[in-house]
Amino acid sequence: MKNYHISVLLNEVLNFIPSEKEGYFIDGTLGGGGHTRAILEKFPQIKVLGIDCDKDALIENKNKFPENRFTFCEGNFKEMTSFALQHNAQPLLGILLDLGVSSFQIDNAERGFSFQKDAELDMRMDKNLTLSAKDIVNSYSREDLTKIFREFGEEKNAWKISGHIFQVRKEKLIETTSQLVEVISQVSGGRFLTKTLARIFQALRIEVNQELESLRIALGSAIGLLAKGGRIGVISYHSLEDRIVKEFFRHEKMDCVCPPKMPICTCDKVSTVNILTKKPIMPAQEEIDINSRARSAKLRIAEKI
Ligand SMILES: C[S@@+](CC[C@H](N)C(=O)[O-])C[C@H]1O[C@@H](n2cnc3c(N)ncnc32)[C@H](O)[C@@H]1O
Repeated sequence: MKNYHISVLLNEVLNFIPSEKEGYFIDGTLGGGGHTRAILEKFPQIKVLGIDCDKDALIENKNKFPENRFTFCEGNFKEMTSFALQHNAQPLLGILLDLGVSSFQIDNAERGFSFQKDAELDMRMDKNLTLSAKDIVNSYSREDLTKIFREFGEEKNAWKISGHIFQVRKEKLIETTSQLVEVISQVSGGRFLTKTLARIFQALRIEVNQELESLRIALGSAIGLLAKGGRIGVISYHSLEDRIVKEFFRHEKMDCVCPPKMPICTCDKVSTVNILTKKPIMPAQEEIDINSRARSAKLRIAEKI
């Protein structure tokens, strides 16, 4: 993979930040710190809270940023309200969520995110989580495995694959990425194998880290935290995440959510955002050419009103 570490849609992220105001920005997915670094450089009047649930992000970013303008917050972005309160992050001008895993997590074989590298089946971004991919593969029922492969991996052969996992693990636990690759290739070989592996590994990663649930909770708190005119941008990498963001923004924009038959509004719902991206922003071909991870990225932006 070429230049994997480059931050995705960097210019597009910088462009959505209100440029002249003084205040705070929450980078909810600090990762390698590329977006944060660029924000700190371009906007000298902005302070950044950088959240990451992976302690290694702290090591990655150690001494990279001016201490008086950057604070590392170890934890899940679904807890952004308490980080914002704790650090009195007001006015909050912007929030960025660049979802998924970062290059240092994928490149570190030991973390078990990649089906191309042999390692223990782990996949926890936050090492404090109790359930790893190994626990899921070896303890979930066939029905539950099928459900996550289908819902989070959109895998058509989910029932067949989970059935085979179920049989194999009766004899011997499936403990490593290579063992899981071997098991899947026994039922889903041929030219579609790589895509199947990508889907199954994605599904397990989403389940281990409860990624969609965290995203829903974070979106639910984000708008309330933003100052008027503050903006939130979310970069997603697969349709499940993108759908959640799109529907959330749409719902926030609506002024009334009463059923159409109601003669008068009783819901009291008011619009809280303007959607700045009718269609998601996607990377230009030049960006995809130098950073293949960018190819599936979609950025949606909304502004608090
Ligand atoms: C795609 S990377 C971010 C890359 C970063 N924008 C950059 O420019 O280097 C995603 C990061 O978010 C973290 N992450 C993912 N989900 C998270 C969550 N729910 N809470 C906190 N951090 C999360 C991951 O550990 C990973 O380091």
